[in-house]
Formats: sequence, C-alpha cells, structure tokens
Amino acid sequence: MTNERERQRWNEPGLAASWPRRGESVTGLTTAPLLELLALQPGERVLDVGCGGGLLALEAARAVGPAGSVAGFDISQPLAQLATGRARDAALTNVTFTVGDAQTDEIAGGPFDAVESQFGVMFFADPVAAFKNIRRHMNTGARVAFACWQPAALNAWFQGSVLAKYAPPPPPTEHGGPPPGPFAYGDAGYVRTILESAGFASVACRPETLEVTMPRDTLYQRDMVIALRLDEANAEQAWRDLQSHAEKFVGADGQLHLSVAPQFVTAVAV
Ligand SMILES: C[S@@+](CC[C@H](N)C(=O)[O-])C[C@H]1O[C@@H](n2cnc3c(N)ncnc32)[C@H](O)[C@@H]1O
Repeated sequence: MTNERERQRWNEPGLAASWPRRGESVTGLTTAPLLELLALQPGERVLDVGCGGGLLALEAARAVGPAGSVAGFDISQPLAQLATGRARDAALTNVTFTVGDAQTDEIAGGPFDAVESQFGVMFFADPVAAFKNIRRHMNTGARVAFACWQPAALNAWFQGSVLAKYAPPPPPTEHGGPPPGPFAYGDAGYVRTILESAGFASVACRPETLEVTMPRDTLYQRDMVIALRLDEANAEQAWRDLQSHAEKFVGADGQLHLSVAPQFVTAVAV
C-alpha cells in the first residue's frame, strides 16, 4: 500500500499522548508566520495537510470565521482524534479532521481557497503525485503556504538523526529523489520542481533560523526510543545516545537552547 511505512509510523499507539509535548514544541514555532503568509479571509475554505494534532488548523478556523471552514487531513488516526477533541474543547464548529492519505485519497470540504501545512508534506512516497492530488482539490488561483525543514545539518537538535542507526534505512525511492522524512525538502530547488510539476507557479522558498529556548523533556523523551521497538540492550543504548545528544544543547539555566531552521514555501495553483 502507498505510504504504508509512514502510515504505520504515524499510527503508533501512544503517539497522541506524547505528541503535544514532543511534536508541537518545535513545529508550533511556524504557526504565526504561516498564517501571516496565507492572510486568510473570512469565509474562505482551507485545507490543512498533515494537520497532526490540529493546532494550526484551529487557528485557521478562527481566521476564516463561521462563514468559512477548515478541513484537517492526516494519515494518523490518533492525531486526528486529538485534533477533533481540541476543536470540541475550543467550541469551533467550522473545522473537521479526517483520516486519509493526502497523496492518493479524495479530500472532502473543497474546493479550497488556501492550503496550509506545518511540516506535514515531506512524507509522501511520490511528492509530485501528492501535490497533484492536493491541487485537484483547490480553486485556480488558490494559494499554498507550508513549513518544511532546511537540511539536517542546520537542524542539529533533531532527535531522529541520533536514532536513525537503530531503525531500518528507508527503501530507495522510485522517483530518485530523497526518501520521505523531515528533511526531504531541504533543497529549495527540489521543492520548486515538485510544485511546478504538480500545477503550481510563483513558488518562493524563504529559509529562516530561529534561536529558541525550551524545557529539555519537550524534545527528548524515552517514548521516542520505545517506538523503535528495540531489544532491551539496544533500547538502553539508544536512550543514552539521545540523552547525551540533548546535553549538547542544555544551558546554565537547565533549558535547551536550540537553533531551529525551517523554510517557508509559498505558491499559487494555476
Ligand atoms: C511532523 S508532523 C506535523 C503535524 C502538525 N502539522 C504539526 O504542526 O504538529 C507530520 C504529519 O504529517 C502526517 N502525514 C504523513 N504522511 C501523510 C500523508 N501521506 N497524508 C496525510 N498526512 C500525512 C503525519 O501523520 C503527521 O501528523
């Protein structure tokens, strides 16, 4: 099945419990800039691809107001459930969360005036096919804005770089580009090619580096190792590796001090 490896990874039991601390500590840094780039208007229809726990989608729902709507779409059942609960708690009735594969599946709630994604579009087996599918659900002239990561070398904080040696390597891709993963779109030229091949124009990539401080356990947690399902000895070693990696970023105040390097991509559907 397409994107099966990612589907399994993002449907790990327990992900929804650890996600709020682990995932959103870093990904949430790009929420405000993305909303600014999209300049959502009351009444617009918005798609959030790879919406995860839904925090960006909830902000978009507030921006488009009751006359507009937001469709959060994600391959992860536990994260979509987390997002649905948050929408309910916030009494937002103009946002829905649906489980599906944005590369292959029909997406309800369109045609969309705007598409947003906060680190949710780098996990497709076939990025051009995925963006063609997304484009198919957009109005001509609709805009897209997403955050992805600059190369791993500029994001030394990333936990997965330490744990990679404990997991099987990703299989080679059929399209010859980088395998799905957080740093798949590190090369701005590659991102431009994907989008232009999928029916978008006016592609712009804006790299940024943010200096941030956060509590140590927001990013480095034992459940990241548990998710790898290693034997006891390897799990212990992987956890020690992760802790000594974290140590590199701990300041005198006991907090993590990180350089975080996202990239903001914008384009228009043509
Ligand atoms: C790094 S997380 C980002 C989540 C969220 N946007 C945030 O800012 O916290 C990547 C998200 O992409 C989703 N994802 C991965 N592959 C997908 C696919 N083929 N279709 C839809 N969602 C996908 C994952 O389930 C996960 O929620």
